[in-house]
Amino acid sequence: MEGKKLKLSSRVIHSGAIKEQYKSVTVPIYQTSTFAFENVDQGAKCFTGEIDGFIYSRIDNPTVRVLEKDLAALENGEDGIATSSGMAAVTTLYMALLGQGAHMISTDAVYGPSRGVMEDHFSRFGVESSYINTADPANIIKAIKPNTKLLYIETPANPTMEITDISECAKIAHEHGILVAVDNTFCSPYLQRPLDLGADIVIHSMTKFINGHADIVGGIIVVKDPALYKKVRAMMIVMGCCIDAHQAYLVMRGMKTLAIRIDRAQENAMKVASYLEKHPKVEWVKYPGLKSHPQYELAKRQMDGPGSMICFELKGGLAAGKVLLNNVKVAILAVSLGGVETLIQHPASMTHSKTPAAARLKAGITDGLVRYSVGIEDVEDLINDLEQALNKI
Ligand SMILES: Cc1ncc(COP(=O)(O)O)c(C=O)c1O
Repeated sequence: MEGKKLKLSSRVIHSGAIKEQYKSVTVPIYQTSTFAFENVDQGAKCFTGEIDGFIYSRIDNPTVRVLEKDLAALENGEDGIATSSGMAAVTTLYMALLGQGAHMISTDAVYGPSRGVMEDHFSRFGVESSYINTADPANIIKAIKPNTKLLYIETPANPTMEITDISECAKIAHEHGILVAVDNTFCSPYLQRPLDLGADIVIHSMTKFINGHADIVGGIIVVKDPALYKKVRAMMIVMGCCIDAHQAYLVMRGMKTLAIRIDRAQENAMKVASYLEKHPKVEWVKYPGLKSHPQYELAKRQMDGPGSMICFELKGGLAAGKVLLNNVKVAILAVSLGGVETLIQHPASMTHSKTPAAARLKAGITDGLVRYSVGIEDVEDLINDLEQALNKI
């Protein structure tokens, strides 16, 4: 049966396995750095692209190609470029699309290092960037300059859960000849497909939901336009930030359960968010599944579910938050997200600590904000765990 005719929850299991001679059900791991040529002419034709053929695993690898094609199919893109980490995907994208004198507009609450690498390093090469609340499209129009080449949005944003309207952004950006890239890490293609909404490029930290088991780091860039795809792939090859075949295999193993993991995690998240919202010690909760989320309607329209990331602040701010973070016993105090295990962290001192304090506050990342990535444990255990930790405040 053709992969595209199946529902996404089936496609994550049955998409593109290698048609290999022994009919293995899982994708074989091609643990090799290099591939033999039949003769000089065949080797030369692989290099010119006249014929398809694997050359060297930094360029491409049969195991990795299955993962790239699978994710491109799930995101409805032309093709994918897997990378050694999510940040490798981000920097490869910046390198491919931005040159001296270029300007990028980005979501202010973007993942800390996606901003840090731009402000601390790309700035040294004459690349400018502006960070705005992309949830309000009027801000994008105001930020556009004649040299703006890329609109880079993260939605829902990490960690504020602010939601940006992808279709609206694509419309505005394309009217000005600007490319749109979306970091879709918080949703995975199971909950949101930015290319279908008009974006040109999607990136993921596969470390998170796509792999789902907190045992690898990896990233991917999926591109809609074939010429743009080639340009970004060429950059990944010279940067040398390819994913390893074994790592790619683990991602594909994790990806098979993407749909059931997310279904369970977001069912848990809805219950945890509702519990927190009613708790007298909680100042506010932001979760796209709650009616109190400022973009609840947009989330319903744009996403196929609210996901399993929650942020909140306790009455008593940072001091109270620290007591909670230090006393949870089921949730693990650790950065990262999107795995089967519930993780809790403090963005201002952890994932976003390198973002200057004023910029952090402007982006809504208050000192007391707690980020909670809901896993697939029994939800009663998660709520009891929060309750006993909140009782210590
Ligand atoms: C939204 C988002 N994008 C990108 C990254 C970077 O991914 P990685 O840690 O795999 O390099 C992260 C990591 O937390 C993230 O949360």
